[in-house]
Amino acid sequence: MREELLKIQEQGSVELNNAQSLEELNQLRIKYLGKKGLLTQVLRGMGSLEASERPIVGQLANEIRDSLEQCLAAKNKYLQEKALLLRLEEEVIDVTLPGRPIKFGNKHPLTLILEEIKGIFTGMGFTVADGPEVELDYYNFEALNIPKDHPARDMQDSFYITDEILLRTHTSPVQARVMQAMTPELPVKIIAPGKVFRRDDDATHSPMFHQVEGLLVDNKITFADLKGTLLSFVRQMFGSDRQIRLRPSYFPFTEPSAEVDVSCFNCGGQGCRVCKDTGWIEILGSGMVHPNVLQMSGYNPEQVTGFAFGMGVERIAMLKYGIDDLRLLFENDVRFLSQF
Ligand code: DAH
Repeated sequence: MREELLKIQEQGSVELNNAQSLEELNQLRIKYLGKKGLLTQVLRGMGSLEASERPIVGQLANEIRDSLEQCLAAKNKYLQEKALLLRLEEEVIDVTLPGRPIKFGNKHPLTLILEEIKGIFTGMGFTVADGPEVELDYYNFEALNIPKDHPARDMQDSFYITDEILLRTHTSPVQARVMQAMTPELPVKIIAPGKVFRRDDDATHSPMFHQVEGLLVDNKITFADLKGTLLSFVRQMFGSDRQIRLRPSYFPFTEPSAEVDVSCFNCGGQGCRVCKDTGWIEILGSGMVHPNVLQMSGYNPEQVTGFAFGMGVERIAMLKYGIDDLRLLFENDVRFLSQF
């Protein structure tokens, strides 16, 4: 048995030393040191030895195991290093290859349009105001000359939270809030961009959308100021040769009221698909602030006048970018969003 063990040691160390690859080394580990390896096989015969010899042979077996394991570890280290060196020699890295570019995001089309609108109006001396999206019935309707039983409420099918609290259906309540906070100071000259909510949902309506409100209250503000301001806005937004057209309309909070159209920037007014062959595109509602509205928010309609307007941001974005389904703006598909 002793001899057998010594033979395993001799043969094992020679073979381990000669191993040419890590795989071969692993095979040898199994062959000599594995659970069913040669060393274990020999030790199975221990039972037939004299009791006094067993510890001696056992110790020898342990020594042999240790020495083979050392051989194995040394060779393993050597072969690993050799493999690494070989890879380093073979592997050619092209350091001139351009790096992979980092993908930057970009602003959402609505953000771009909003920034443009804000830029144009702040350039004309307006400041940016805001108000709550969850609004009191008082500001959303009452203070805008829309009493409880007014039919204009039906046009804005609304999300109520309680009888007196709702998601604002337009940005117009900011008019009343700002005037109330500023009175008697003049001028009141603000725009109020923000989210609004209505129970609408189709290719051109979303239950949440954005509006920009405008309000200018001062001494001697006339309809001509409204028209001039809007013409200037439209030309900066849609092109310097645009015209505007005002059509009589009705809003409870303005008197007189007007719907504002811009001459079609697609066909220049000849008639095309974008303007539905009319040459004009409706872009906002406006008017002279109703005396009741001024009065309710603390200004004397005998002394001051004002104009107001309100526009839908999605509508302007769709017109300007030629987007035909509003829902694209809210689906967050990068293939769509990265085009702007
Ligand atoms: N608030 C109106 C709406 O949501 C839009 C509007 C029309 C606002 C006329 C105004 C205005 O300030 O003068 O339909």
